[in-house]
Amino acid sequence: MKSALKLARYLKPYRWYILLAPLLMTLEVILNLLQPRLVQRIVDVGIAHLDLQEVIRTGLIMIGTSILGAVGGMTNGICAEMASQGFGVDVRGSLFRRVQSFSFANLDAMETGQLVTRLTNDVTQVQEAIVMVLRMMVRAPLLLVGSLVMGILTSPRLAFLPLILMPVELAALAWIVGRATPMYTRVQERLDRLNETTQENLAGVRVVKAFVRAAHEEARFAKANDSLTDGTIRAGRTVAVTQPFMMMTMNLGVIGVLWFSGIRVTRGEMTVGQIISFVNYLTTALFSLMMVSQLVIQIARATASSRRIQEVFDTEPGMRDPAEPRDWRPAGRVVFEDVTFTYDQSDPVLKGASFTAEPGQTVAILGSTGAGKSSLVNLIPRFYDATSGRVLVDGIDVRSLRQEDLRGRVGVALQETVLFSGTVRDNIRYGRPDALDDEVIAAARAAQAHDFILALSEGYDTMVGQRGANLSGGQKQRIAIARALLIHPAVLILDDSTSAIDVETETRIQEALDELPRNTTRIVIAQRISTVLNADKILVLDDGRIVAEGTHRELLASSPIYRDIYDSQLGSGVAPRE
Ligand code: CTP
Ligand code: MG
Repeated sequence: MKSALKLARYLKPYRWYILLAPLLMTLEVILNLLQPRLVQRIVDVGIAHLDLQEVIRTGLIMIGTSILGAVGGMTNGICAEMASQGFGVDVRGSLFRRVQSFSFANLDAMETGQLVTRLTNDVTQVQEAIVMVLRMMVRAPLLLVGSLVMGILTSPRLAFLPLILMPVELAALAWIVGRATPMYTRVQERLDRLNETTQENLAGVRVVKAFVRAAHEEARFAKANDSLTDGTIRAGRTVAVTQPFMMMTMNLGVIGVLWFSGIRVTRGEMTVGQIISFVNYLTTALFSLMMVSQLVIQIARATASSRRIQEVFDTEPGMRDPAEPRDWRPAGRVVFEDVTFTYDQSDPVLKGASFTAEPGQTVAILGSTGAGKSSLVNLIPRFYDATSGRVLVDGIDVRSLRQEDLRGRVGVALQETVLFSGTVRDNIRYGRPDALDDEVIAAARAAQAHDFILALSEGYDTMVGQRGANLSGGQKQRIAIARALLIHPAVLILDDSTSAIDVETETRIQEALDELPRNTTRIVIAQRISTVLNADKILVLDDGRIVAEGTHRELLASSPIYRDIYDSQLGSGVAPRE
């Protein structure tokens, strides 16, 4: 309930609709409540005395009031819809912005599928509750009390009937609500699971096919699918009891009325019109109780959803900008001072790493898989924060810079290349959407991507499929390098970015990188020793520690690990470019 109240702040811009809705509803209900009385008058005054004038006059009043009532009801519906749609747009937008502010660590901890459900289905649940509340919150109690009062005024002697029937119905409805509410919470959880399964399967559909696991995946999906359907049907079955039960109590009411008043009509103590009118009021009262029960169920569903939405809002972005960010005039000097780094309380993956990359230098990082190379470079653009020690750019701790300033001048080609659907040009321009075509081409040339891009069917305007589905691994990597180059980085980080590129093309990329402005510091992770031969400095990383540091020649002489890697890959025939 508390989270529902917190979400209520998103209704504030729509307060006029929310105020107007109940007023319009009240108008509609009052006009509706008049109808049975008017019918009574037609029967008792008009028809009984064969007074056609009276029938027509009252009939016209009925038409007028019901049109007015309908207009009230319609405008109420519009108000409710406006408020709930506005609320939905705002909450979804706000959730999306929140997720954008999440750090890598936040995202490591969140399931994509769950985030999707929260942004879509959960918001819809709350929206539906808002519509229902605005449409029924006033209508149900007003109809209930109004029709009871009007009924009793119509025929006080029959007042005992609703007093018997209402508690019976109330008990039944309370039972239904009590059973259905937890069922709907479970439905929501199952929907979550279905979304997760779908998400994961679609993201990995190529692996599924490669390993011929379609049958397994189908079974997994069917399980989630069936369990959702099962839960929904169960809840639906419980709620389905409501209608027939309602009809039964209503019919009992009608029979009761006829039973106890039939005699009185013959004795002349009651009129037929009164009976019709009373039956009408009684069924309306019973019906409004049912509306209340539906309202309660929907509110319960929405409460569960709003808790899940609020959870996203309550997730503190793991990384904030400093209150007083420092100015950075990028020169490109990167210093690690005794950096230790741990993901999520596990064993440290970096242990006391210290090194310096001077402006314009190329620093290569070599090390076996899992040694901590990606983890190390990810600290420079502050994707994660060091657990202890400091990471400095040009003497400034990266934590005292604004993330935007820092990342605006640290160009990264991540180990896993991610492209977006859109044109090749848009993908290269991703970090600087205002870049000129010439700049895009220059970056693509340096990344040795220009030629293959021109060979694509529509050159730079070729559409890239989702995640770059229609490009080769090496092509994707080169576009990612061009994307990183285009921001004119002071520090360029290439995390294994040439792993899918042949040695010859890689050499050309290296030569192009050598021509970058003198102050661009390059930090290059590589598996191939040919990639690192010409680096100004090579760091050998082993199990989170920098175990050797120097140029190729120095390391060949001093580091047995380096020597081993070198021998295993190249033998002794290859020498650095002069
Ligand atoms: N790791 C982790 N959580 C992450 C990423 C990595 O716990 N979000 C762990 C991995 O299990 C690994 C260690 O951190 O044991 C180092 O990972 P990483 O820095 O990615 O290793 P690399 O040296 O980059 O390995 P590779 O050559 O395979 O890219
Ligand atoms: Mg890595």
